[in-house]
Amino acid sequence: MSTPVYGGNAGMSSDYLEIRDLRVTFDGFTAVDGVDLTLLQGDLRFLIGPNGAGKTTLVDAVTGLVPATGSVTKSGVELLGKKTHKIARLGVGRTFQTASVFEELSVLQNLDIAAGAGRSPWQLLRRRKDVLPEIEEALETIGLTAHRDTPAGILAHGQKQWLEIGMLLVQNADVLLLDEPVAGMSHDEREETGQLLRRIGAQRTVAVVEHDMDFMRAFATSVTVLARGKVIADGTVEEVQNDPQVQQVYLGTATASQEA
Ligand SMILES: Nc1ncnc2c1ncn2[C@@H]1O[C@H](COP(=O)(O)OP(=O)(O)O)[C@@H](O)[C@H]1O
Ligand SMILES: [Mg+2]
Repeated sequence: MSTPVYGGNAGMSSDYLEIRDLRVTFDGFTAVDGVDLTLLQGDLRFLIGPNGAGKTTLVDAVTGLVPATGSVTKSGVELLGKKTHKIARLGVGRTFQTASVFEELSVLQNLDIAAGAGRSPWQLLRRRKDVLPEIEEALETIGLTAHRDTPAGILAHGQKQWLEIGMLLVQNADVLLLDEPVAGMSHDEREETGQLLRRIGAQRTVAVVEHDMDFMRAFATSVTVLARGKVIADGTVEEVQNDPQVQQVYLGTATASQEA
């Protein structure tokens, strides 16, 4: 399958992330309030909602950065309570709202380091000489083959985000949680990123936190809407757009923030 579809490519060997009754509380304030959400392999899910809805906190909880209650299982394996590096090693990768790459190192070196995470020193030594096939493949997927020797610090904003996604790919992340990957990107970069998300989303479990409704409409195969820590709608782009509660809560807020 070359493109993501609603419902994913469910089959016996396909991956999924199942979130049940997830709750995160900061000093008595509940930022994520009993979220149920199932992400399927091959279904490019967008997670939308007004500022402060709890989208980033949800990703933080799944990746072990904030304590949470409830349950998050990856193909049956419980993630809650595990340390961040353990969760990463189980194949759950995430990006941050601001790209975090090693600016002074080249694209290739960044990918090399990411690929080395969790490998033995012997494996690291053995492959110093040439570029690993999975790194070649990631370079191709993220469209940075021609920039492999470019220091990450001088990449365009969009390219840095793509490199960060590439770093997750070489770590063998098969669940990717991307926090506002197109924020601050030009129109062309958004379009390229959308195509990239399609490529990686066809075979992996991908959730994209997004603010831009046009971008969501163009590339999502399924959508979950969060507001005040709760899921208020879940379905296809069309179903979610036609949901009166979404129009009221999300679009109402979007209009208000445009006016501000
Ligand atoms: N570390 C924290 N301590 C206290 N409150 C927080 C913390 N992180 C997030 N919050 C609060 O939780 C709510 C959800 O935030 P966030 O998940 O960043 O929203 P979103 O990503 O949807 O914009 C916000 O009200 C925010 O102020
Ligand atoms: Mg956020």
